[in-house]
Amino acid sequence: MFKKILLPVDGSEYSSKAIDYVADLAKKYDSKVVLIHAYQVPVEIQDRAVPFGGSVAGIVEIENYLLQCGERLLEKASSGLEERYPDISIATVLKEGKAGSVIEESVENEDYDLIVMGRRGLGAIRSYIFGSVSTYVMHHCKCPLFIV
Ligand SMILES: Nc1ncnc2c1ncn2[C@@H]1O[C@H](COP(=O)(O)OP(=O)(O)O)[C@@H](O)[C@H]1O
Ligand SMILES: [Mg+2]
Repeated sequence: MFKKILLPVDGSEYSSKAIDYVADLAKKYDSKVVLIHAYQVPVEIQDRAVPFGGSVAGIVEIENYLLQCGERLLEKASSGLEERYPDISIATVLKEGKAGSVIEESVENEDYDLIVMGRRGLGAIRSYIFGSVSTYVMHHCKCPLFIV
């Protein structure tokens, strides 16, 4: 039923809960799990840093830093899964771009049976029940979705 699961991660406690559920599901269904993380240089910096005194080198540095953070995040998340299910088959995908669009594109290009993700993430606006990425995925991805 759940041969291939997409697990979008952002390092939040919601995303950790999603990892717990995926570990259990993957054990039961012997699923292949693809962890995905999207990173992006804040738009404000991309557009304005150079004309307002920033430098292209500075933006590249930020981008490299975010890339390294993403690698570490994926490594931590995948080792958390392996601890609980040593035989699990895991792939990790790190992409530059808007998380919702990156997830949407992956679902369009590959055959997933399920997406498991957090209801909220690292965002600060706690008055909303769902975050912007989970809301985007709910509205755009044509794949069964399990929101934790
Ligand atoms: N950059 C990201 N890359 C991959 N998945 C993400 C990313 N950001 C959020 N997610 C996924 O979306 C879930 C909901 O997060 P989000 O909608 O961003 O809420 P919030 O607005 O509280 O940050 C997270 O728990 C995680 O599973
Ligand atoms: Mg977020």
